[in-house]
Amino acid sequence: MNILILGSGGRESAFAWKIAQSPKCQNLFIAPGNAGTTQYGTNVNLKVTDFEGIRTFVLGNAISLVLVGPEEPLVKGVHDFFLNDEQLKNIPVVGPQQEAAQLEGSKDFSKQFMEKHNIPTAAYKTFTRDTLQEGLTYLTTAGLPVVLKADGLAAGKGVLICTTLEEAQQELTEMLAEAKFGEASSRVVIEQFLTGIELSVFVMTDGNSYKILPEAKDYKRIGEGDTGLNTGGMGSVSPVPFADAAYLKKVEEKVIIPTVEGLKKDGIPYKGFIFIGLMNSDGEPWVIEYNCRMGDPETESVMRRIDSDFVDLLQGVAEGSLNEKELIISPKTAATVVMVAGGYPGEYLKNKVITGTENIHESIVFHAGTSTDGDNVITTGGRVLAITTLQDNMFNALQQATADASRIYYDGMYFRRDIGFDLL
Ligand SMILES: Nc1ncnc2c1ncn2[C@@H]1O[C@H](COP(=O)(O)OP(=O)(O)O)[C@@H](O)[C@H]1O
Ligand SMILES: [Mg+2]
Repeated sequence: MNILILGSGGRESAFAWKIAQSPKCQNLFIAPGNAGTTQYGTNVNLKVTDFEGIRTFVLGNAISLVLVGPEEPLVKGVHDFFLNDEQLKNIPVVGPQQEAAQLEGSKDFSKQFMEKHNIPTAAYKTFTRDTLQEGLTYLTTAGLPVVLKADGLAAGKGVLICTTLEEAQQELTEMLAEAKFGEASSRVVIEQFLTGIELSVFVMTDGNSYKILPEAKDYKRIGEGDTGLNTGGMGSVSPVPFADAAYLKKVEEKVIIPTVEGLKKDGIPYKGFIFIGLMNSDGEPWVIEYNCRMGDPETESVMRRIDSDFVDLLQGVAEGSLNEKELIISPKTAATVVMVAGGYPGEYLKNKVITGTENIHESIVFHAGTSTDGDNVITTGGRVLAITTLQDNMFNALQQATADASRIYYDGMYFRRDIGFDLL
């Protein structure tokens, strides 16, 4: 079959790498892809939100499966666009429809969903511009620190953790009355601060049955020791030692089953991935957020631990036969180190020539923000490459990924050398 992946980051590179290995995949296309995805398939110069362009390409190239990488096209309704089109409606899309994508697209929607289905999550209340005064009063009783979340998509910037009442009131005012995050903060969720260690759990579902993919821990801060500004993600490790079988069983019973059943009860179809961001507090899972797609850079580590045919699993999701499919997970450890551009996550350097990737043998170099200038591979994004290793034990995996990252060079190159070492 011919498969189209939408997206251009490290996540999509890892999907492409895995899908290209499947005997079921004939031709693989990545739209728009990056300089690395051409190793696995053909790049197509289309934006992920250009639905008409995607339509033309899909029909012209006999695509029989579309895998959506990022959240934006899902929240904008790419799956619904297919279902509402006579010629596209039988071409399966992996990724939820617009309504279900609200689990990520609206923090308020996801909190209401969790409350309704008794899924453990922090206490909260939602406010709008009209109820700003009540919000300011609510903050005086909410306790500190307190978490303020812009309701809509804010590219990972819409969550503020405030340590004083003055700061919280100021931020709430800016978000609601001054549109600090644009339309995304026209509604704000105020929630209780949870302490603990974060964990990412991934579920694949066809709306009826589900499979739990390898869990992962990601590292969001730019600096070593988890310091400095937030980024899109600086590395990931899978498995996560504290997420043992007993803990994951708790996650399954308290979070995963009620989530899948809750969607069913609410009559919300869901074919795709559910990324559950958890806080582990004293051995209990609390949901921080849902995402309606896989994580980046978690996908890079997760794909390396899947030993079964990924296209077969995707078909199971698309056709509603996921319960008949086999998911084999490697017991080995996968580690991913993300290499970023100088200056990132602030204004960063671009168009720098990347050298040294030919020296990497033990790890896979997944491209993220890369392109070509004809002769050279150059940097174009903030997150440039993701170096992923699979080894028998965690120490070796962490060391190998870090060592391999240091074999690559571009002007301004930076990566964290401590990814995963806190877990040892
Ligand atoms: N209730 C909470 N308690 C403590 N930390 C939180 C809470 N909610 C969010 N955070 C922190 O903020 C980060 C971003 O919040 P999240 O809901 O995942 O939003 P997004 O990923 O959309 O920016 C989380 O990864 C976590 O570190
Ligand atoms: Mg998050």
